[in-house]
Amino acid sequence: MRTKYCGELRLCDVKKKVILCGWVHRKRNLKNFIFIDMRDCTGIVQIFFDPKNQKTFDSAFTLKNEFCIKVTGIIQERLLHNKNQDLKTGDIEVIASKIKIFNISETLPIDLNNINNKKIKLKYRYLDLRRPKMLKNLKIRNNITNIIHLIMQNHNFLNIETPILTPPTPEGARDYIVPSRIHKKKYYALPQSPQLFKQLLMISGVDKYYQIVKCFRDEDLRSDRQPEFTQIDIEASFIKKKKIYSIVESMIQILWKKIINYTLEKFSILSFQESICKYGCDKPDLRNPLELVDIHNLIPHHFTQLYKVNHIRITSLLIPQGLLLLNKNNINRYNDIIKKYKNIHPIYIKVKNIQLKENGIFTSEKLLEKKYLMHIVKYINAKDGDMILIILGEFKIVNQVFSDLRIIIGYDIKITQNNLWKPVWITDFPMFEKNDNNCFISMHHPFTSPKKNITIQQLKDNPESSLSNAYDLVINGYEIGSGSVRIHNKIMQETVLEILGISPQDQHKKFGFFINALQYGTPPHAGIALGLDRITMLLTQSHSIRDVIAFPKTNSATCLMTKSPNKLII
Ligand code: AMO
Repeated sequence: MRTKYCGELRLCDVKKKVILCGWVHRKRNLKNFIFIDMRDCTGIVQIFFDPKNQKTFDSAFTLKNEFCIKVTGIIQERLLHNKNQDLKTGDIEVIASKIKIFNISETLPIDLNNINNKKIKLKYRYLDLRRPKMLKNLKIRNNITNIIHLIMQNHNFLNIETPILTPPTPEGARDYIVPSRIHKKKYYALPQSPQLFKQLLMISGVDKYYQIVKCFRDEDLRSDRQPEFTQIDIEASFIKKKKIYSIVESMIQILWKKIINYTLEKFSILSFQESICKYGCDKPDLRNPLELVDIHNLIPHHFTQLYKVNHIRITSLLIPQGLLLLNKNNINRYNDIIKKYKNIHPIYIKVKNIQLKENGIFTSEKLLEKKYLMHIVKYINAKDGDMILIILGEFKIVNQVFSDLRIIIGYDIKITQNNLWKPVWITDFPMFEKNDNNCFISMHHPFTSPKKNITIQQLKDNPESSLSNAYDLVINGYEIGSGSVRIHNKIMQETVLEILGISPQDQHKKFGFFINALQYGTPPHAGIALGLDRITMLLTQSHSIRDVIAFPKTNSATCLMTKSPNKLII
C-alpha cells in the first residue's frame, strides 16, 4: 500500500515518487494552499496541496486532524527559509498528486500536542499511544527486549515458558486468584514470579534458563509498581553469585550503551547494613553524595532518656552550606515530612563561625548543652555555613524519614548529579525480618539460601542474625533487580519454612511438589529477576512505569479503558 514511511524521507529522496499512509497530524489552510503534517509510526512529513490539482485540493480541503489517509506525491526540497530544523524531514516536503481518505475521525477526546488529564489519557489509551513520545517508549522497550534476547542467547540460556495458571508463589504480595470451572471450589493463582518453576527447571537439568515473563501481584501500587508487570527472569545451575553479577552487569552496560549511549562504570557493592547506616534505606540513590553519620555516642544519656524509644537511632546529616542554600520554606517542608511520623525528634544545628567555638554554633534544641554541639560539629567535620540535621527516634522510622529527606535535600542544595547513572549491588541482607505481628518473614523469599557456612542448627538457633545470600541491583534509587543463591538442600529448605512459621503439614500442602523435588539430586543454583518495566522507565527517562507499558492499570489496579475489573457478564 505504501512505498515509504513519512519520518524516513530526506533530501536524497528529492524527485522520487512516494506513496505514504498515516494520519493528519495538523492541517494549515493558507489562502490558496493547504499544508498538512502527515504522521505515521516513524514521524511527520509536510504535504503540500496545490490548487492547480483541483480534485486532490478539494479532497484535502475536507481533511481534519486524525483522518486516516493515503497520499501519493513527489518529494521536493523546501525553499531555504521554509526549512524546519526541528523536524528530521524538515528539508523536504511532498507535493501531493493524489489523496485517498481511508477513514474520517471524530475530534479526539485528548490533545496529542499537549498535556492531558491522566484519567482521560488512560481511558483513551489507544489514542494517547498515538503521541510520538509514547510510541517512542514502546519502540525503546522493543529494542531493550531484542537486545536482552540476543545477550541471553549468546550466553546459551534457554528461553523457556512457565505456567500462568499455578499454585500460589510466596513473593510477599497477595495472589490474583482464578477459579477452576471443572474443579468446583478449587483455584489457580497467577504467578507472582516463576520462582519455583525456574528452580524446578534446574532440578530438570536445564542448566541455564531465562524468560521475559509477565508476573501478577495484588499489592499497593505506586509509580514503579503495577499489578501486572514484566520480569527478565534468569536462573542457572553450578554458578556462584559473582557469575550472576557479571552476566547482569554486562547486560545492563550493553543496554545503557546501546539505548542511551552511556558508558556505565563498574558497579559498586554495598552491604545492606552499610546502606542502611549511610543512606537509611536499601535502595540508595548514589548520585547524591550526602551520607548519614550516627552520633549516638555524642548525645548524653540524660538527653536520650527524654525520648522513650525501644530501638533508638540518633543520626545526623551534614548539609554543606545549608545556611546559604536553604531557606525557611525548605526547612518547613522538612518539618512537615518529619511531623508525619510519631516518636521522632529533629534537631537542627547551624554552624555560623567555628572560631567562636560554642558562641558560633546555634541549635533549635535548647535542652542540648552547647558543649555537645561542639563535639558533633567536630566529629562530622562541619564547616562555617553548614547546617546539620539530627534525627533521633525509633530505628526504622528514622531510616524511613532520612532516606526521603536525603533525596529532597540533595536536590534542594543541588548536590545530586542528575546526569549520572550509579548502579549498586546491595548484598548481605538479613535472612528474616519481623512483621507487625512479631513473626519472622523472609526478607527476600523463602527459597533464598543463607550465607555460606551457616549450619542448619546455627540458623535455627539464631534466625534473627543470619544473613542471606541475596542481592538486589539498584540504579539511581530504583530497585531494578533482585535475586539470590537458592537453597538446594531439602532439610535446609524445611528449616527455613519452619522458622517462617509454616508447619510441616502446611509446607507439604503448599510446596510439597517442590520440597519433594529437592530430594532428587538438586544442583546448586542461583538466579535473579530484573524488572523490565523499571529498566525501560529509566532508559526512556519516564516518571512512571505506566508510560512504558502499552495498556497499564491505575494505582487502584483498574483499567479505565476496558473498565476492568468488572462484574461477570455471561
Ligand atoms: P522480586 O519480587 O524482588 O524478586 O522482583 C524482581 C524485580 O521485579 C520488579 N518488580 C516489579 N516491577 C513492577 N511492578 C511490580 N509490582 C514489581 N514487583 C517487582 C523489580 C524487582 O527488583 N522471584 C524473585 C527473583 C529471584 O529471586 O530470582 C522475585 O520476583 O524490579
